[in-house]
Amino acid sequence: MQIRACDPGDHDGIDALLKSAFPTPAEARLVTALRAADADTLELVADDHGRIAGAVMFSPVTAIAANGSQAYGAGLGPVAVIPEHQRRGIGTALVEAGLDYLRQLGAPWCVVLGDPAYYGRFGFKPASGRDWSWAGDPDGEHAGAFQWLSLSGKQPGTAGPCRVHYHPAFDAV
Ligand SMILES: CC(C)(COP(=O)(O)OP(=O)(O)OC[C@H]1O[C@@H](n2cnc3c(N)ncnc32)[C@H](O)[C@@H]1OP(=O)(O)O)[C@@H](O)C(=O)NCCC(=O)NCCS
Repeated sequence: MQIRACDPGDHDGIDALLKSAFPTPAEARLVTALRAADADTLELVADDHGRIAGAVMFSPVTAIAANGSQAYGAGLGPVAVIPEHQRRGIGTALVEAGLDYLRQLGAPWCVVLGDPAYYGRFGFKPASGRDWSWAGDPDGEHAGAFQWLSLSGKQPGTAGPCRVHYHPAFDAV
């Protein structure tokens, strides 16, 4: 199994993977939309002898404070592993490689919407702890699932509560 950067020849394999790992084709559509919008900050695949066994996408996100100041980071997701290969460490390897790559690129922080029991192992903490909330969740219904990780060891240059916006492609799927 090799974790490597995605190339265009992988797109059909990733599409099939996302459709097999998620209950609906929404994630497959999202990834296609992010690529079309040039918002695919980083895309890695797990290559199992030429078959795509897993994939992870990172896209740009913006944190906007009440005073209008903005900070830019990365959003993790979707990440998926083909059902027959799940629970063998592939998802962990993809996320760790992606976060390492983002650090090398100089990305300051990353957010994710998902199960804290899974993402906590990478160091993600509830974003509510730093008064950040996901802009797509005005009622705070998913507050416990929205998590944040500093990649630089520094705090973002925004003060006070922030609303975090994913790329508009997320709203279109
Ligand atoms: C989530 C996913 C990417 C994890 O990849 P994986 O290769 O199966 O995971 P790993 O083998 O690296 O890690 C397995 C561990 O993660 C846990 N885990 C897997 N999926 C989890 C989930 N959705 N929530 C919480 N924990 C989860 C397992 O219980 C296991 O824990 P353990 O190490 O304590 O036994 C994969 O299960 C998947 O594709 N799921 C369907 C799509 C999905 O829900 N993606 C995430 C939302 S974007």
